[in-house]
Amino acid sequence: MEMLENIRTIAAFIKEKVGKTPEYGIILGTGLGDLVNHIEITAEIDYKDIPGFPVSTVEGHSGRLIFGNLGGKYVMAMQGRFHYYEGYDMKQVTLPVRVMKQLGVETLFVSNAAGGMNKEFRVGDVMIITDHINLFPENPLRGRNYEELGPRFPAMTEAYNHDLIALADKVAAESDIRLMHGVYVGTPGPTFETPAEYEYFRIIGGDAVGMSTVPEVIVANHGGMKVFGVSVITDLGGKDITDVPTHEEVQKAAMKAQPVMCSLIEEMLRRL
Ligand code: HPA
Repeated sequence: MEMLENIRTIAAFIKEKVGKTPEYGIILGTGLGDLVNHIEITAEIDYKDIPGFPVSTVEGHSGRLIFGNLGGKYVMAMQGRFHYYEGYDMKQVTLPVRVMKQLGVETLFVSNAAGGMNKEFRVGDVMIITDHINLFPENPLRGRNYEELGPRFPAMTEAYNHDLIALADKVAAESDIRLMHGVYVGTPGPTFETPAEYEYFRIIGGDAVGMSTVPEVIVANHGGMKVFGVSVITDLGGKDITDVPTHEEVQKAAMKAQPVMCSLIEEMLRRL
């Protein structure tokens, strides 16, 4: 099916099921999973029940869309995202963001786990993403452009909305949260970096590196959405660092930062 038609069909299917459409979208990446427990859920739909939607390979659950109230705002959240390294193409990875936009979402919150190259960072730190460097082998906007979705050559000068960053800083200062700022380098994965690669990413201006987020943020910007992104620093890399990052270590560090990330997002929504 043509992409535009697929987006519209999926959005109509969801709208029919949930009725009320959201203005805020959240991609529950690593470190934000627990946020679902803060949402007063009014509706949920499994990915596998949405015709034309990719099905997630995340262990344990198929992935689902959740609708409900958080911080006094009506939100839609993705539990389980699609990673490029899983074998999805860039259009599949970003389809949910297209659907969110079609449903009326104007502001997108994203989170991820990332390896830190900035020498000030510690494991468990929370980093507001101020900008990114796209090192994926393909841009999700490659191919035919639909003017209905956005311009052929979208600007990326404020990919991460400055007002939302300022709001996060204000919330963090008031609640004594140590909040770092930095540039996120997006790589295809699934390998973690070699020490030389961590060093290279630091030299080109990166503070943290991960395997997600960049595709979704490009598509959100294409659609004119405001984006707020946050990384939990789960491991550190560089030429003098010999620690071997493991999936388990990443999950553990992310769990630790989870309460901070969740209360930050909830409080930001309350004040929007
Ligand atoms: N590299 C890439 N992705 C990651 C890392 C990392 O060090 N940590 C968590 N996700």
